[in-house]
Amino acid sequence: MTSAHSILLCLGLCLCKGTRTQEADGLPKPSLRAENGSLVPQGGAVTLRCRASWEAEEWWLEKDKASGWENVKSVRQAGHEGKFLFPSVTSSDAGPYRCLYRNSSSGLSKISDSLKLVVTGLSPPPSLAALPSSKPAPGQNVTLRCWSEGWYGWCVLHKDGEEISRCRTRSHERGYQADFFFPAVNLTHDGTYRCYGFHSSSPYEWSSPSAPLVLRVSDAAALDYTVGNLVRLILAGLVLVLLGVLLIKHWKSSTGQPIQGVLG
Ligand SMILES: *[C@@H]1O[C@H](CO)[C@@H](O)[C@H](O)[C@H]1NC(C)=O
Repeated sequence: MTSAHSILLCLGLCLCKGTRTQEADGLPKPSLRAENGSLVPQGGAVTLRCRASWEAEEWWLEKDKASGWENVKSVRQAGHEGKFLFPSVTSSDAGPYRCLYRNSSSGLSKISDSLKLVVTGLSPPPSLAALPSSKPAPGQNVTLRCWSEGWYGWCVLHKDGEEISRCRTRSHERGYQADFFFPAVNLTHDGTYRCYGFHSSSPYEWSSPSAPLVLRVSDAAALDYTVGNLVRLILAGLVLVLLGVLLIKHWKSSTGQPIQGVLG
């Protein structure tokens, strides 16, 4: 009985979903963006912008909750963009969002791709260190180590505000750490790095960022250039001296010759 009921219920839901998807096939999907990036510190403000190539009257924002996608905000706003303001984000705002719009003459749009809103500052920051040095020579191997005394299942590495890598931590004597290995670094590795920790059970709720770590491969490269220039300068000097010596020899022999000739 119960299973028959749930099958019927599921069938109904699936049919409803199917109908809605068919309706949604009409208008092109909008794009969803976070105004100043999708990483927001707890208590900070963020505006999600749903943009469409079509004119629309009404916009909806859906969030992926434990029970599935749920409508969380809607605005009536004529034009090509609907804005959803979060004046002060909390951990419960973290997660994937998507949006859609309605146009009175053509109906509903397709659903946008999802945007993952990450809330940071929800736990103490990990530490970030460069091994063996934050000023490596070009071609050297560098490990960026993100570690924490408290437990994090994952560490995320950001370079100049962009995520470049993430990996699972492993336990060690001081707590938990993740190593990001960069073989044979070059000038493109220059930048400011930060890392964050999070638990796999809440992948959109991150720690505060580590203190920034500035990696400068170019400093060592600049030193190389200076040494190179010095060598070139010394070589040029030696050539000049050699030329001078040759000139003096030539001048001596050419002034000496006639005298010898007169004497002879
Ligand atoms: C750098 O790392 C590579 C592996 O990617 C390894 O083969 C090489 O020996 C390392 N070089 C040094 C100087 O440690």
